[in-house]
Amino acid sequence: MEIKGKRIVLTGAAGGMGSLLAAELVAGGATLAMVDANADALHKVAAGLKGSHTVAGDLSSAEGCKVAAEECLQLLGGVDLLINLAGINSFAAYEDEDPGKIELIMRVNLLAPMWLTRAFLPAMLEQNSGRIVNVGSIFGSIGFAYFSVYSASKFGLRGFSEALRRELADSAVKVTYIAPRAVKTPINSDAVMKMNEATKTNMDAPEDVVKKIVAAINNDHKDIYFGFPESLFVRINVLFPRLVDRALAAQNRIARTFAKKQ
Ligand SMILES: NC(=O)c1ccc[n+]([C@@H]2O[C@H](COP(=O)([O-])OP(=O)(O)OC[C@H]3O[C@@H](n4cnc5c(N)ncnc54)[C@H](OP(=O)(O)O)[C@@H]3O)[C@@H](O)[C@H]2O)c1
Repeated sequence: MEIKGKRIVLTGAAGGMGSLLAAELVAGGATLAMVDANADALHKVAAGLKGSHTVAGDLSSAEGCKVAAEECLQLLGGVDLLINLAGINSFAAYEDEDPGKIELIMRVNLLAPMWLTRAFLPAMLEQNSGRIVNVGSIFGSIGFAYFSVYSASKFGLRGFSEALRRELADSAVKVTYIAPRAVKTPINSDAVMKMNEATKTNMDAPEDVVKKIVAAINNDHKDIYFGFPESLFVRINVLFPRLVDRALAAQNRIARTFAKKQ
């Protein structure tokens, strides 16, 4: 889908990747409704971007998503592309996870994209065009120790994307699932950054990832996994999960020391 001239709803637009993606999309000729919980950061991002609107709102509830979606539709006069990018993370041993945080992660990472898709899909079907882009993670295909809640949320998002893509196959509305590997943004706490360093985990620059997201949209990818060898491990994990268990065992022991130290 060509970005030029499109009306785009972008969630998580004030974040590490979102702010850069917003700039790329506006530079590509799109009109944006930028949604984020962080109102101050959102207004700073919007200040430099012509043709962009801000919608400050909390997407962690069905009502919050409904209100944000209505505002976006009003500001844009319709929608061609929904990019579900907002997300949160937790790096912890599961026995230490707060039940409220577990629910919040599922709400923001999985339910918000589902609620927003539900809000925008009828208009897309009606106008006979549109695309839903869900930003998942390599952790949506490989369950990572000490990221169990985040992994579960992204596995869910991948499943939703796949099912919806198949459901809409005979329509003009398309679905893209995008899975980056680790990226240097604020979603990763100091503990995660240190753990990634200790385990020699590959981390991409957000500028590079954002360019790949735009290319994936332009090229109508159904799903795409960024980075090698991570994208290969995604395939291996499907066929030989015990192999991946063994390959990750040493890394998991290192990760535990960082997860428990926080
Ligand atoms: N960075 C990585 O390593 C990585 C790797 C793979 C996939 N991803 C995915 O990429 C996406 C973007 O992540 P990022 O790296 O750009 O993270 P980020 O810098 O933390 O940005 C995420 C944005 O989402 C917003 N947000 C969080 N909860 C929200 C809510 N309830 N309602 C509305 N907005 C909310 C955040 O606002 P606040 O600042 O107020 O929380 C923040 O501006 C996420 O879906 C993430 O899972 C990231």
